[in-house]
Amino acid sequence: MQRIAVVPGSFDPVTLGHLDVIGRAAGLYDELHVVVVHNPDKNALLPIAQRVSLIEQAVAEAGIEGRIVVASWSMGLLVDYCTDVGATVLVKGIRSQVDVAYETPMAIVNRHLAGVETVFMLPDPEHAHVSSSLVRQVAALGGDVTPFVPAAVAGYLEGALAS
Ligand code: PNS
Repeated sequence: MQRIAVVPGSFDPVTLGHLDVIGRAAGLYDELHVVVVHNPDKNALLPIAQRVSLIEQAVAEAGIEGRIVVASWSMGLLVDYCTDVGATVLVKGIRSQVDVAYETPMAIVNRHLAGVETVFMLPDPEHAHVSSSLVRQVAALGGDVTPFVPAAVAGYLEGALAS
């Protein structure tokens, strides 16, 4: 049986912390879907198609091996996407107790809804302080985001915010 997992998120934009989790998860499953989910509770900076493209570039840039599909999902429950592609696992990166508190109810609801299990993965502590919202803020205020994001994202943000 193929083990298919999904790494979901807003990825607005993808960070080195996300990429670390994607790389580790790619080594554990036969196929990994990285899914950009439209979150109506958040004010997005990047269009969804741009977020997908930047993840594709970042995965290639990092040389992450394995069957990786980058997709987006905005039409209902995330577990419906999982069912559509035959994924039985969601992988979430955990940086702190705050992330555990945020993720736990979603993990339990997703298991109730569709039997999809959630695996919490610890990224390299080097990335524990990195978040997309901090990256957006640093970029908007003219700071250097290159220590926190893949080169493709840094290049995109530089161009987008300069224009
Ligand atoms: O990167 P984020 O914003 O922390 O990602 C949160 C996300 C998109 C993974 C989360 O909001 C989510 O799972 N949304 C899907 C909507 C859904 O299925 N909700 C019901 C069960 S929790």
